Amino acid sequence: MAAASAEEAEGAASVRAVDEAVGETSDLKAIATAVIEVDDVTKVYRMGSVEVSALRGVTLSVDRGEMVAIMGPSGSGKSTLMNILGCLDRPTNGVYWLDGVEVSKLGDDQLAEIRNKKIGFVFQSFNLLPRTTALANVELPLLYSNGKDKRKRSLEALARVGLAQRSRHHTNELSGGEQQRVAIARSLINNPSIIIADEPTGNLDSRTSEEIMAIFDELNREESITIILVTHENDIARHAGRIVHLRDGVIESEEVLTP
Ligand SMILES: Nc1ncnc2c1ncn2[C@@H]1O[C@H](COP(=O)(O)OP(=O)(O)OP(=O)(O)O)[C@@H](O)[C@H]1O
Ligand SMILES: [Mg+2]
Repeated sequence: MAAASAEEAEGAASVRAVDEAVGETSDLKAIATAVIEVDDVTKVYRMGSVEVSALRGVTLSVDRGEMVAIMGPSGSGKSTLMNILGCLDRPTNGVYWLDGVEVSKLGDDQLAEIRNKKIGFVFQSFNLLPRTTALANVELPLLYSNGKDKRKRSLEALARVGLAQRSRHHTNELSGGEQQRVAIARSLINNPSIIIADEPTGNLDSRTSEEIMAIFDELNREESITIILVTHENDIARHAGRIVHLRDGVIESEEVLTP
């Protein structure tokens, strides 16, 4: 794991060096380092005779190991985009390449398989089972796998978010920040290469939000996990290397942040 990501980081650095030498963002970079490529993606929700155009042509590329924040007013299409990026939903039109695979045309089963292998999800409302231990919640995605080491992996995931000592607590006995850490541990259980987090700090106070962001920072920097997060808060977005601003279903602007 560590060797592979170090190699990837090195690869990304050398491609960036080539880009700088050439003086342009070449196709080479896109081919070599982009883990996510969406091209002119649209999403139309149909409810009876009413159509809502939630995305109206989004083109976005995310490099392996990047942290990207998505911002924008309510209804601008952030969650719609996240659902597509997370393979929870398909675009109406346009193309989505994930890790070199065109996922926009895959069937439900194939989409679910890719999702389970590659993507971890974190939501604003934690989505944990109450009156159930932290450990059991983290193990949940392994429900249908028959590995013997479920307990061990679940404990390791809790340790990665600093919660090993709370593993036997029921989730309703935990603070909001601790609950979100359990949710992050659950998202890590299948060792995803990408984490999709839709307003992960939306229900937390600013101090707890920073603690949660410190965990994302660490997963991003030390394990090269690609992180895409939606937030309404500037302070949270500034943890990312880039901020993508959505408005009315299109990308209005992008901001590259210097660390
Ligand atoms: N399942 C759905 N069926 C029909 N319309 C939907 C559905 N999901 C979202 N929409 C509509 O699509 C548009 C974009 O919604 P989306 O949830 O992506 O916005 P958002 O940027 O995440 O907003 P918020 O900040 O409030 O979470 C909205 O007009 C919304 O009403
Ligand atoms: Mg939303």
